[in-house]
Amino acid sequence: MESLWCKPPLKCSLPRTRPQHGRRGARLGSMALGALGFLAAALAPLPVTAASAAEQNGAAGPVYEVRPIGWVRKAEGRTTIVIEPQYQPAMMGLADLTSIWVLYWFDRNDTPHGRSILQVHPRNDPANPLRGVFATRSPFRPNLIALSQCRVIAVRDNVIEIDGIDALPDTPVLDIKP
Ligand SMILES: C[S@@+](CC[C@H](N)C(=O)[O-])C[C@H]1O[C@@H](n2cnc3c(N)ncnc32)[C@H](O)[C@@H]1O
Repeated sequence: MESLWCKPPLKCSLPRTRPQHGRRGARLGSMALGALGFLAAALAPLPVTAASAAEQNGAAGPVYEVRPIGWVRKAEGRTTIVIEPQYQPAMMGLADLTSIWVLYWFDRNDTPHGRSILQVHPRNDPANPLRGVFATRSPFRPNLIALSQCRVIAVRDNVIEIDGIDALPDTPVLDIKP
């Protein structure tokens, strides 16, 4: 178990290679289905993986995949979430909302070290008593899921303009909910 009061160096670790799908294929129970699943995975875009760093940490249990549905962009004083075009139909009705919950991935901390941190001094201040990350909003945690509420300014095509978000530019967005 590690504690942290100052940030380790940030490092982007979106995987450059596709994850191994051998275990999932085996679970499908038939060679034909396994081959189909492997083919689909090979054609799919590179995922933000919850597997690689956690597995290096010796984490046990099933592995679940998530893929970005969009990206946080910050430019010229505006903050937007640019949704991947294939997910644009999922935006129907978004323009009626005044605020949304945005789930995103702390991708710069997606390292074995970043995901091994289980206790922190909140707000990186050693004066704050140590707390478990599940009792904090720390960007270091086993699963690097972040949650922020944002005000919707405008929705155009596949772009949601929001008032702001505490995500770094070009952060992968996992989901949006009302
Ligand atoms: C304290 S966390 C809270 C995030 C979210 N509101 C939550 O509660 O889950 C916000 C901080 O995470 C860090 N952060 C934002 N985007 C990140 C990313 N993509 N990778 C790593 N750290 C990030 C920034 O330092 C930011 O100030």
